[in-house]
Amino acid sequence: MTLHEKYLKQCFELAIRGRGRVSPNPLVGALIVKNNMIIGKGWHEVYGGAHAEVNAFLDVKEDVSGADLYCNLEPCCHEKKQTPPCVPLIILKKIKRVIISNLDPNPQVAGKGVEMLRQAGINVITGVCEADGELLNRFYFTSQRFQRPFITLKIAQSIDGKISRSRDRQTWLTGEESARYVHQLRSEFDAVLVGANTVTSDDPQLNVRHVAGRNPQRIIVDGRLSVSENARVIGTALDQPTWILTLDAASPIKIERLQKAGVRIRMFTDRGNGQIGLLDVIGFLHQQRMISVLIEGGQAIFTQFIQDGLFDEIIILQAPVVLGSGLPALGELESLNLRLLSSLKSGNDLRLVYSRV
Ligand SMILES: NC(=O)c1ccc[n+]([C@@H]2O[C@H](COP(=O)([O-])OP(=O)(O)OC[C@H]3O[C@@H](n4cnc5c(N)ncnc54)[C@H](OP(=O)(O)O)[C@@H]3O)[C@@H](O)[C@H]2O)c1
Repeated sequence: MTLHEKYLKQCFELAIRGRGRVSPNPLVGALIVKNNMIIGKGWHEVYGGAHAEVNAFLDVKEDVSGADLYCNLEPCCHEKKQTPPCVPLIILKKIKRVIISNLDPNPQVAGKGVEMLRQAGINVITGVCEADGELLNRFYFTSQRFQRPFITLKIAQSIDGKISRSRDRQTWLTGEESARYVHQLRSEFDAVLVGANTVTSDDPQLNVRHVAGRNPQRIIVDGRLSVSENARVIGTALDQPTWILTLDAASPIKIERLQKAGVRIRMFTDRGNGQIGLLDVIGFLHQQRMISVLIEGGQAIFTQFIQDGLFDEIIILQAPVVLGSGLPALGELESLNLRLLSSLKSGNDLRLVYSRV
């Protein structure tokens, strides 16, 4: 590993501390190195707070002039935001060299930050540990490049591909370690999304309980507004942001009652098949500045997202059980090839992560 790679990996570790706290901003860590010694470190800690570079400068107790700045993302140069741009500060502090992993795809930055640094006579090295940086900020990069959130389907299933014994009742398949993993995922994603039947059959809480972390926003796709007002997601809507996405024809009386309970309602136009178009759903999440969404079921929802090609990643938590008869994870679909990214043991379960080819 080169010295540049070593320091940038440390930037990644700092950046990760902002997970679940900085969205829709990227995860960024920064190190200031002089005479081969780290003299300052910082990370973007909270949305609206100081950027990683600023925090690293604040951490320095000595003269920074002539030092190197390591930062996993291109420093920002645009004015129209909550905090001042970092590039002028880096120039002012007389930094000699800036080493970064990824350019910022935000069109207001997109190489302009690097250009301004170079014009000021600073040596800028880009693309170090680029693939790792891509992975770290895949939510942010997806949102900036494609104007939609990063979409992960999380499916708990038996080895014969069933997600429950029957549609109208919950079947707990996976173990404690997988439960902790799912809660960790929820704490990292901006939103979790389920269909109306899953709320009816499972009465899930869709919050973070088994690990420390913040709750995601809950999204329920419910075209006919059939969700019970006694469901736990409704009863806790004042504590955890909860959206119901429904069609224009939904009952205004029920809408009013749900809104009184703290539920946020978003109406969509029927595209002719009695359904809300998933592109409309994804567009809405993007509009709400959610850069990641974890799709948690059930079958109808999983099937539609895959059918429409609207996913980046599928995580299968496979329990060591054969259900025999039961509800398959997916309804009818055309064939599709995926790439296996990882396969790990999760207690007695298997955790398989796939991406699109
Ligand atoms: N093992 C797992 O990972 C897992 C996870 C979650 C759920 N489950 C299981 O899955 C089962 C439920 O699956 P499911 O397929 O019956 O239900 P579902 O996918 O949770 O919900 C389907 C319902 O949601 C509404 N909906 C879905 N897409 C819509 C769209 N595009 N526009 C408008 N409304 C939409 C519709 O409600 P209306 O028909 O009222 O319009 C539809 O009937 C349960 O047994 C549950 O235990 C398993």
